Amino acid sequence: MNYKDLVKTALKYRENAYSPYSNFKVGAAVLFESGKVYGGCNIENASFGATNCAERSAIFKGVSEGENKILAIAIVGSLEEYTYPCGICRQVISEFGDENIKVILAKNEEDYIVKDMSEILPGAFTKGDLERNNK
Ligand code: THU
Repeated sequence: MNYKDLVKTALKYRENAYSPYSNFKVGAAVLFESGKVYGGCNIENASFGATNCAERSAIFKGVSEGENKILAIAIVGSLEEYTYPCGICRQVISEFGDENIKVILAKNEEDYIVKDMSEILPGAFTKGDLERNNK
């Protein structure tokens, strides 16, 4: 799947956002190594801390189906500016791939930029940190 199609999928899932508190809709689409794509939206809660971001909704769907390596993720929040993933989502994205994961930030299917994971989460804490220090 190309980046434009991934953005289209993120836009589609953005429509399913459950965001009555922030009124901020976010959609995400994740391409895994298998070639399969999983979409997700943000899901808010009256207990605000229980809110789940679009990126994690999509990732958790894929991982629940047996996926474990992310190649790319497209994110559409605001349609006026690029919406970057929050810190928690950056950490979760980095758990399932390497520094070359492509993060596609889109306003729409014609207007997007592509970042490497290493650019938006330099010095990530990874399983390697635990392995090296748990001997
Ligand atoms: N949100 C996401 O879904 N992804 C992000 O990376 C940024 C924030 C959602 C969470 C909440 O529903 C709303 O945007 C406002 O924070």
